[in-house]
Amino acid sequence: MLNQVSPDSLPLRRSDFAPEFRWGCATSAYQIEGACREGARGESIWDRFCSLPGHVRDGSSGAVACDHFHRWREDFDLAAALGVGAYRFSIAWPRIFPNGAGTANPAGLDFYSQLVDGMLERGLEPWATLYHWDLPQALQDRGGWNDAATIAGFTEFAAAVSRRLGDRVKHWITHNEPWCTAFLGHYDGTHAPGIRDWRTALQVCHNVLLSHGAAIPVLRANASRARVGISLSLHPHVSASASEADRAATRRYDGLRNRWFLDPLYGRGYPSDILELCGADAPRIGANDLAVIATPTDFLGVNYYFPETIAHERGHGPLSVRVIDRPGAERTALGWEVSPDGLVNLLARVWRDYRPDEIHITENGSSYDDVVAPDGSIADVQRRDYLVRHLHAVRASIGAGVPVKGYFAWTLMDNFEWAEGYTRRFGLVHVDFATQRRQLKRSGEWYRDFLRAGS
Ligand code: FCB
Repeated sequence: MLNQVSPDSLPLRRSDFAPEFRWGCATSAYQIEGACREGARGESIWDRFCSLPGHVRDGSSGAVACDHFHRWREDFDLAAALGVGAYRFSIAWPRIFPNGAGTANPAGLDFYSQLVDGMLERGLEPWATLYHWDLPQALQDRGGWNDAATIAGFTEFAAAVSRRLGDRVKHWITHNEPWCTAFLGHYDGTHAPGIRDWRTALQVCHNVLLSHGAAIPVLRANASRARVGISLSLHPHVSASASEADRAATRRYDGLRNRWFLDPLYGRGYPSDILELCGADAPRIGANDLAVIATPTDFLGVNYYFPETIAHERGHGPLSVRVIDRPGAERTALGWEVSPDGLVNLLARVWRDYRPDEIHITENGSSYDDVVAPDGSIADVQRRDYLVRHLHAVRASIGAGVPVKGYFAWTLMDNFEWAEGYTRRFGLVHVDFATQRRQLKRSGEWYRDFLRAGS
């Protein structure tokens, strides 16, 4: 039981992991780049979403963010100083196709080409995510992910980027957390493009998965020896009680959160219990679609943050479920339950049920309210402990036979946290957004010392 364990009581060394284990950190374009009008970049759905009142907690946007567009050298120096060997980043589609289609923008391609060179010069292996939520607004205006034409747009985007970077980038992630794209963006409406429609969300979800499968051969054709995967936000689920109603609700919620993605990706089609619940709202599924979605990948990216406790509640949402706060649970400042055991359970389940060739934890991290001491230091002990305890969980999972081959801490530096704006900090590096000054936090120091000690 890692949930109860104090990280100080258990030793953890880099040498507990295989020498080839990938240690990394992750970022995403819209959250850090800023410079949203430079380099002939087009408007993204997040620019538009942020410009409308009430969408982002502090009324902010990613227009400047960490100004990484101009400061990437310093940021890569920081990542290299942590001692990570891999860096996960995403490519802003509106930098490559400002209007969603047509000819790829040379300035956008040059920018990422330079970034990749900058990573390689510093010993950072590039892991590129194609879609981390920033669709060109021009495509949204034509229907966005609800329109099948966006699937073709995505494969063009994948082609343009991999043609240019495929000689140097060998690790590709098609999509980041399609659940969020589909359901936060099109059912909850709390993410761009802010649509609230169940049927649309289901069709979007299908189109996103389809675009994943369609892009894989394109990536493989343009990047020799490419390793391709997808990053899913997965959650272990706990029933609020032992009642049959709550247990059935838990299965339904797991059905949409986890199985709805894993089942089709691993060749089983959509789970029939959830399809049935969707009824007439179910997505239109073309004859070859499921085969395309099940195109084999080289790894599964698991983004893990928290478990969810589920109760039955008739009429609450299309699944009649409510996600409740487990009483007494430890939580981060954002309210997310802290559970390293949840990661162990989740990985065991994914391995048991789907047998991916390799798993990489492509995101894991925590938000706490950091305090900058008068001497400028940030003693984010809780974030450090979260990191240590989750690495214990990864080690335990590997010990149990799960092929976890890499870990990417979310995130290198504080950034624009979507609907939470700049009110939530997840970084190993603190960013003062008024001055753009970066300062390594205690958690980052721990990660650096851990990585150094074993190298
Ligand atoms: C994930 C997102 C990432 C970041 C973290 C905190 O869902 O992929 O961009 O916002 O949550």
